[in-house]
Amino acid sequence: MAAASEPFRLLVLPGDGIGPEVIDETLRVVDWFAGWLNRPFAISRDIIGGASIDAHGVPATDAVTATALSADAVLFGAVGGEKWDSQPIHLRPEAGLLRLRKELDLFANLRPAICYPELASASALRPELVEGLDILIIRELTAGVYFGEPRGVEVLPDGRRRAYDTQAYTSEEVERVVRAAFDIARLRQRKVCSVDKANVMETGAFWRGIATAVGADYPDVELTHMYADNCAMQLMRRPKQFDVIVTDNLFGDILSDAAAMLTGSLGLLPSASLGAIGPDGRRKALYEPVHGSAPDIAGKGLANPLATILSFGMCLRYSMDAGEAADRLEAAVRRVLADGVRTADIAAGGPHVSTSAMTDAVLRALEHDPI
Ligand code: IPM
Ligand code: MG
Repeated sequence: MAAASEPFRLLVLPGDGIGPEVIDETLRVVDWFAGWLNRPFAISRDIIGGASIDAHGVPATDAVTATALSADAVLFGAVGGEKWDSQPIHLRPEAGLLRLRKELDLFANLRPAICYPELASASALRPELVEGLDILIIRELTAGVYFGEPRGVEVLPDGRRRAYDTQAYTSEEVERVVRAAFDIARLRQRKVCSVDKANVMETGAFWRGIATAVGADYPDVELTHMYADNCAMQLMRRPKQFDVIVTDNLFGDILSDAAAMLTGSLGLLPSASLGAIGPDGRRKALYEPVHGSAPDIAGKGLANPLATILSFGMCLRYSMDAGEAADRLEAAVRRVLADGVRTADIAAGGPHVSTSAMTDAVLRALEHDPI
């Protein structure tokens, strides 16, 4: 554990589209907590994604990857945009993010989906189905079909083309993320739902077997299994049945977007991508909003900064051991929502404020000492 006076080294990667706007607003909140915690931040800033393609021809340079590896945490905005859509897959903006996830070995992606009572009416579902919703999706992030080899497009002897990806997991890759889910469930409602396609896929049956074996070490946590297609349906039908969902990289990608809409807006959802705790007691981590770069609204002051601000809250909790500060930030966000402050995405057509006015409101609520 670093001494309290040592600066916390935060690498900021704003990325593309609305990324820079939501990151700049979040840095005002970082600054506020530097004062409140009396902990200096050493902030470095670099480019990633489309911005990096334009400047260096690649979505993540070796240099930015090395800086990320040596930082205490990375705060990431968003990447992507139409401009780079015709690039080959390994040179698209998204590949920069995937490189960081892989090289930092950030295997556990925590995506909370919380429905704030004031926003229950903004949900895609009836308010009574989502009021009080508090799900945590833990998505495996460094293996599975996103990274499996071989992958490619081949030309068959008869001239037809064939594309393929590989879904593959080692037992260690499954075990460590499932274990993380059980450990976190102990801090919550002690329920883990492991999601797979054990009825169709080898990796699914394998995943289920390992989850069951790990579950034996946690007799105090209830373990259930669900097929991924059924899970998608249950999320729409009765989402409050879930506490912690743990699943593979691709199912986690899809189910977390579905869960996001239960809460009313993607603009509110933070995420943390965590590695293992190293021998020095530190863990690598990257914090990013679940939403994308939304190029259509970039530069207009319309973006909701709360997902990125709450991602920094997860950084306070998981990388800085500052749970009280994280509670305070979450309470400030709740207060702002309760006061009716809305960016366009959650205003349901009503009056709305700009990206920076939303941050102003959060900073005011922080000053107010809401807890
Ligand atoms: C996410 C995104 C990414 C993913 C993209 C941007 C590569 O959709 O973080 O959910 O597919 O993992
Ligand atoms: Mg996604």
